Amino acid sequence: MEFREPGRALRYEQLADELSGMIAGRILRPGERLPSVRRLSQEKKLSISTVLQALRELEERGQVEARPQSGFFVRLPSPNRNLELKPQTRHALARPVAVNISSRLEGVLALSNRSEMAPLGAALPAIELLPVAQLQRLYGTVGRSSAALLGAASHTTLNHPDLVRQLVRHSLTWGQAQAVDEMVVTNSCTEALSLCLRAVTQPGDTVAVESPSYYLMLQLLQQLKLKALEIPTHPRHGMSVDALEMATRDRRVAACLLVSNFNNPLGSLVPDHEKKRLAELMAARQIPIIEDDIFGNLHFGPDRPWPVKSFDASGNVMYCSSLSKTVSPSLRLGYVAAGRFHAEIMMQKTLTSGATNPVTQVVVARYLESTAYVRHLRGLRRAYEKQVMQMSEAVQRYFPSGTRLSQPQGGLVLWVELPVGSDSTALFEEAVSAGIAFVPGDLFSASGKYRNCLRLNCGNPWSPRLEEAIKCLGLLAAKIAASA
Ligand SMILES: Cc1ncc(COP(=O)(O)O)c(C=O)c1O
Repeated sequence: MEFREPGRALRYEQLADELSGMIAGRILRPGERLPSVRRLSQEKKLSISTVLQALRELEERGQVEARPQSGFFVRLPSPNRNLELKPQTRHALARPVAVNISSRLEGVLALSNRSEMAPLGAALPAIELLPVAQLQRLYGTVGRSSAALLGAASHTTLNHPDLVRQLVRHSLTWGQAQAVDEMVVTNSCTEALSLCLRAVTQPGDTVAVESPSYYLMLQLLQQLKLKALEIPTHPRHGMSVDALEMATRDRRVAACLLVSNFNNPLGSLVPDHEKKRLAELMAARQIPIIEDDIFGNLHFGPDRPWPVKSFDASGNVMYCSSLSKTVSPSLRLGYVAAGRFHAEIMMQKTLTSGATNPVTQVVVARYLESTAYVRHLRGLRRAYEKQVMQMSEAVQRYFPSGTRLSQPQGGLVLWVELPVGSDSTALFEEAVSAGIAFVPGDLFSASGKYRNCLRLNCGNPWSPRLEEAIKCLGLLAAKIAASA
């Protein structure tokens, strides 16, 4: 126990003040990890308990937070409430509409994939955030030691048991382990979604979707000649279950398609009690749920949120995911926990593409088995959270007043609402000429909503190039807002 000499700070307070000064001077930046307790103790020649006391003091001051098994981190600033997106006001029930975004979307994505464009378009992680070296090693080892795999694929041998075991093992982190015989391994999440839609719909059917909703989901509806019924989606709490309840009361809806954990583009998270209500409501009305949980492991809060699937008592939820946002988009490895639709989805998979590459399945199984995967996820979550925050700060610095933005609770994208009357398609044209690509807001709607919105990818570590791009975009947005 230290005793205070009058007028003199205790050693733990001195250390707390020193670290606090580094945080205020942004030498230690929001989201960054503080040096470990052991290192601080060695460097400052203080006991472990004094260092811990200093860190607790900073925790009480709200400057740092402890994360289990990871250490102490500089807290992210609390979001500026004045700039938060406003929930959509209640409007008359939407009508199902045919989707027609494909050709424009293709053009936007082709432009945003060009290497000379600042990478604000497709929601993709930077390669330096991915475990590339480990995957390279695993491809070598698995290829050399399991030659039989190179002759093993067929149209009917779909799942590698080692991978299924790992997928089931990891599903324990979100509530309940999935049954092994529910699983179908797919080529990506997009394929998983496509198989599910084809299993439960016919051309001309209506599918309930979020609004705004991920553009590739809309594109799938277009390709399968399905209509979209856009359900209001709260910027923080996701798809409105009340609105879904009303919309499905007397209208035939063939399926409900949603991202309950960190919707793309809003980053919203449906609360558990609403997930449960959603699962029960759709089961009672015999409307299958297709849930996309590709961002579920990318939570910024301490706990991995449960998906709607965890509240599914009757096999009514088809749960889709992939490793594209966490391990590598190039693996093209996804899966469905298909519930009561398993046989139909297996059949669709057989007829569409047959088995997913068995070498990749085993590589991923080995990776998911290792402790490296869990460590990687922990680091990746921190990186995305920091990048989203840095992007959000830059938008607040450079965009015109009247701009509002999402406050994602996970994932890697930011949704920006420009002042009323601004046209993000006009902004896109100008931005592309300046070497910047993003995705205009109306591509997230089947009915042409969100013309004054845009989505920014935050998958890249912050850099002077990104700062310049956001500054330039902000200037262009201000010009467009002024002429609106
Ligand atoms: C919600 C959502 N689902 C699916 C995908 C596509 O995943 P995959 O590359 O595995 O097809 C994305 C990519 O951005 C996404 O945001």
